[in-house]
Amino acid sequence: MDNIKTVLEVRGISKGFPGVRALDSVTFDVRAGEVHALVGENGAGKSTLLKILSGALEADAGEVWLEGRALPPSSPAARRRLGIAMVYQELPLVPAMSVAENILLGNEPVHAGGLLVDGRALRARARELLGELGVSLDPDARVEGLGPGARQLVEIAKALALRAKVLLLDEPSASLSAHDFDRLCEIIKKLAAQGTGIVYISHRLEEIFRVADRVTILRDGKTVSTDKISELDRNVIISRMVGRDLKEEYPPIDWNPGPEVLRAEKLTLPGVYNDISFSLHRGEILGFAGLVGAGRTEVAMAIAGAAPAASGRIFIDSREARIRRPGDALRLGIGLLTEDRKSLGIIADRPIRENTTISALDRVSKFGVLLLARERRQVREKVKELDVRASSIEQKISDLSGGNQQKVLLGRMLHRGSHILIVDEPTRGVDVGARAEIYARLKNLAVAGASILMVSSDLPEVLGMSHRIVVMRGGRIAGVLGRAEATPESVMRLAACEED
Ligand SMILES: Nc1ncnc2c1ncn2[C@@H]1O[C@H](COP(=O)(O)OP(=O)(O)OP(=O)(O)O)[C@@H](O)[C@H]1O
Ligand SMILES: [Mg+2]
Repeated sequence: MDNIKTVLEVRGISKGFPGVRALDSVTFDVRAGEVHALVGENGAGKSTLLKILSGALEADAGEVWLEGRALPPSSPAARRRLGIAMVYQELPLVPAMSVAENILLGNEPVHAGGLLVDGRALRARARELLGELGVSLDPDARVEGLGPGARQLVEIAKALALRAKVLLLDEPSASLSAHDFDRLCEIIKKLAAQGTGIVYISHRLEEIFRVADRVTILRDGKTVSTDKISELDRNVIISRMVGRDLKEEYPPIDWNPGPEVLRAEKLTLPGVYNDISFSLHRGEILGFAGLVGAGRTEVAMAIAGAAPAASGRIFIDSREARIRRPGDALRLGIGLLTEDRKSLGIIADRPIRENTTISALDRVSKFGVLLLARERRQVREKVKELDVRASSIEQKISDLSGGNQQKVLLGRMLHRGSHILIVDEPTRGVDVGARAEIYARLKNLAVAGASILMVSSDLPEVLGMSHRIVVMRGGRIAGVLGRAEATPESVMRLAACEED
């Protein structure tokens, strides 16, 4: 390509937090019309870098240049006016506002001459932007009623509304299924073709190979390399990210499940899911695949007591169970790893230690008294086992990188020792290295007799880890595939085929 125009340049950016050097003299650049992927392990500094570019954080040293001019430190609003827009990893939408209001927040059409927001124009504009994304979301729907996948699309529509010169995307696909990712891919390519420079963070390498033109690898806050994607392969990226070679990602699923442990019969929540019947066996990993909005998370929440079904029955060991709230599920040995880390998962201002033990305090207490030494020991074990990167177990969970927060939540579920595990997007935001460890961990649990219901939008993951796959579409079970018949095509055909 001739005429390469650099829109954004990052020169020697450094940033420290107490106890960590998050970025150490990072240098890279973004060209007009390119998709520049930023990859690295959990805690490598990717989000911190984008936050500095978007104006949300100030660097300790270094410069950011936009179209040949050094930018002064400034706020996100000022950076947005200059044409730098960001889609955050943890979504900052306003739950009580509508989809349309969120998309055009700070950018609302007003009535001629007036200060009043033009509601009709607002909805029309929002509908247009959603149309561009190929998303059929109702502009009037409240964001609080949407799942993370749909929220992500709203976030992207919001960035689209700004017609940015530089678009920063922090794990935009983490809660999207393969089908939704296709759409995102198209929109990203379209924006790039219009000249927007795009920075794209993702832990899913197959996506990087689909969307990226160039790739910058970060390790421990330092730039390792920047290359054209055509000059890289998967193994090179992984070994540069992790600093060593990695073995197979998915462990062999080579054991057979035992007798039935849980059975769901005709679970129904009108308008959300209908007539959901399936069984889960001892030692089984049962995958739940489907598009965003197919109802998988809602079914998982019903089993875990977080949001009960309106009708239908659940049997545990052939006895009917009443699961009306999370406490009921916990007592029955059912543990949940929620997809919605931010609002349902982490207890933001508390340390890793408390976040790990919170739902099984009995394991670290005697006669109702907390045994701090025992608690610390158990938490340290989990932190080590899951390779949580933190300065200490007393660090606030909200200061950890996204993937490390996810590992703490997984640690909480394991700490509780449940024998039926409901895991919703278990490796969302988790890097390749840690992901392999989580898979090995899930396998060990299942081999030891735990039953695992795994909702996942990551197709290779569902295929690689499940004994059987339940495919949901539009709130119903579209089919159940055995390991031998499950392929990307057969799953996608059931998940996305003709509207009925
Ligand atoms: N507000 C903060 N206070 C203290 N430490 C922080 C804060 N924000 C980030 N860090 C630390 O800075 C480092 C880089 O974090 P960052 O979120 O940029 O990683 P990341 O590459 O985005 O990881 P992930 O893939 O898990 O999202 C981590 O060690 C993290 O714990
Ligand atoms: Mg991050």
